[in-house]
This record gives sequence, C-alpha cells and structure tokens, in this order.
Amino acid sequence: MSHAEDPLIVDALSRAARAPDVESLRAIERDFLDKGGVVSTLLASIPTLPPEERKSTGQRANQIKAALEAALATKKSALEEQALALESSSVVFDPTIPGAKPERGSLHPITQVTRELEDLFTSMGYVVLDGPEVERDWYNFEALNISKDHPARDSQDTFYVEGRGDLVLRTHTSPCQVRAMETMKPPFRAIVPGKVFRQETTDASHEHTFHQMEGLVVGRDISVGHLIGAMKTLLRGVFGRDIEVRLRPGYFPFVEPGFELDAKCPFCKSGCSVCKQSTWIELLPCGMVHPNVLKSGGIDPEQWSGFAFGLGLSRLVMLRQKIDDVRHLLSGDLRFLEQF
Ligand code: FA5
Repeated sequence: MSHAEDPLIVDALSRAARAPDVESLRAIERDFLDKGGVVSTLLASIPTLPPEERKSTGQRANQIKAALEAALATKKSALEEQALALESSSVVFDPTIPGAKPERGSLHPITQVTRELEDLFTSMGYVVLDGPEVERDWYNFEALNISKDHPARDSQDTFYVEGRGDLVLRTHTSPCQVRAMETMKPPFRAIVPGKVFRQETTDASHEHTFHQMEGLVVGRDISVGHLIGAMKTLLRGVFGRDIEVRLRPGYFPFVEPGFELDAKCPFCKSGCSVCKQSTWIELLPCGMVHPNVLKSGGIDPEQWSGFAFGLGLSRLVMLRQKIDDVRHLLSGDLRFLEQF
C-alpha cells in the first residue's frame, strides 16, 4: 500500500485540510500523534504482530507521523496568515461610531458675570479699563481723599509690599478712578473689573482676595438721578428682573454724598451667616465723585461732575448663583467649579 492510499493518512490529511482553526488542528494532533493516539497505538501493537508484519507496521506509523506533522504545520501557518489578513481588513473607517468626547471646561462664574457686565456697560457707551493690582499708595488712598492718618484706611486692612511703603496690593478698584481721569478727557464713562486684596479675617461673606467692578461717569451736570438709573440698569441686567434693594447713606471719603446699596439676602428670611443676621447684603456702594478726587485726576470740579460705584462682584456672583460662601469662588475646587 502506497503512502497516498493509506486510509489513516488520507483521513488525517483531509481533517487537517478542513480544520477551521488552530484549536481543531490541536484536536487532530491529539487523535493521531499524542500518547494513546493512532500512531502510538500502532507502534505499541508491533510486539504482538507476526514477525513479517512488524517492519511494515513500524514504517507505516512513521509515515503517518511525518505526513501529518507536515500537513499540520502548513495548515497552521495558513490559518495564522488568514487571521492576520482578516484583522487588518476589518480596520475600516466607520463614520457612524460616536467619537470620543473631549472634556470641556467652562468659564469661571466671576468671568461669566464680568463679561455680561462688560457687554451691558459697553452697550451704554462705557469703556472697559484695567489697572495694576500692585498699586501706588497715592492712587489707592491719597488721590482718593484718604490721607495717611485718615481713619478710613483702617476699614480696608492693607497688604503692603515689603520694603516698599509706597506700594500696596490694591484694596479696591477705586484707584482706577484717578487713573481713568488722567488718561481720558471728560465726558467719559468707564468700568474697571478686577481683583482686590484685603488683610482681613475671612468668613462666609469675606475673602482676602475678591473681585470688584468700579464704575465712573464724568460729564456735565451729572446728578444722583443718573447714578440711581445706572444702578437699576446694572441690577436688572444681572438678575433679569428687579430685585429688592435698599439705598442708605454711606461714607466714603472719595464720594459726596455717598450711598450704600444693599440687596435682600436670598439665603434667609430672618438672618443668616451670609448677611450677618441683617437680611441685607452690602453690594453696591456708590456716590457722587468728591471734588478733591476730580482735582487729583486733573479735572476741574467747577465744570465737571460725576458718579462712581464699587460693585462687589464676588458678592453679586454669590447672590445670582446662590453660593452660600464666598470662599468657594477662588478655592480652585473642581467639584464646585464644574457646576457652572
Ligand atoms: C469700597 O471698596 C469702595 N471702593 C467702593 C466705592 C466705589 C464706593 C466708588 C463709592 C464709590 P467697600 O469696602 O464697601 O467699598 O467694598 C465694596 C464692596 O466690595 C462691598 O459692598 C462688598 O460687596 C464687597 N466686599 C468688601 N469686602 C469684601 C470681602 N472681604 N470679600 C468679598 N467682598 C467684599
């Protein structure tokens, strides 16, 4: 019997040829070549055979083994090539698969409100100005009618620059009033949003670093009526409705007369830590620019008058977003910021 006619070889090779995957090849190997398989059974039978059949049986077992090993190796590499080709052909562009969504940041609530206010005020003819956070004592105090021994200095506990008595971290945005007067000819309207610093004990409504927005209008015959009109427009713009406010006299050396505009506390009915049990939140001090300040800025108070306001931007954001502690704003805590 020739090698090609041996039914065991024919069977083994045809099973190898039809094997769909590597696991099936392993099963054929087990049936034929492993211990207890076809080849080892044939070899084990040799001692029991008549002597004339022993040699041919040994040869047959070896032929089956050699033929099957070669067939299994060829089929295995064919299957591997096939798998590789399938893998590379399946990497196709599918435009229907949803893309990976990049994480998106958002503007800080203070930036959001600042931009809204800038839009509102520029639509009314105001220009937006900037000023230095490290400020000269002159602009922060003296030019605003606050002399060295003036008690008003105590109300704005100041960070001084070490070794430079004339430099402070600005305690308010009001120094930009005089800076604006120096650079612009009246009549003009300006707002100055920015960061300010005070050395004070912090609590739910007081931070050492917070934001204000100064407003300044200088023109002919500017009156308290203009001031109140501007404050109402500001609050309606921010809250989208009229909110409950009260106007009371306030003292600031750089305005005369001066007012405090307070907003009704949105967190309570009868007093809480944010409004210091008063049910009102100090929000918007303002007043008519003091003649001495106009003079500091090189403007003749006989010819020009003006009003100014110093909006507590951080407090405004608290009121609008119902944030019950100002210290969250600059905490950098993502759990807080991701809400906006
Ligand atoms: C001033 O800073 C004046 N420069 C405002 C001004 C400008 C008056 C122009 C008149 C004309 P005051 O110290 O009250 O004023 O601060 C203004 C506002 O900033 C307050 O009404 C309050 O809303 C806010 N504010 C004050 N201190 C803090 C603080 N520690 N943390 C958060 N907000 C504060």
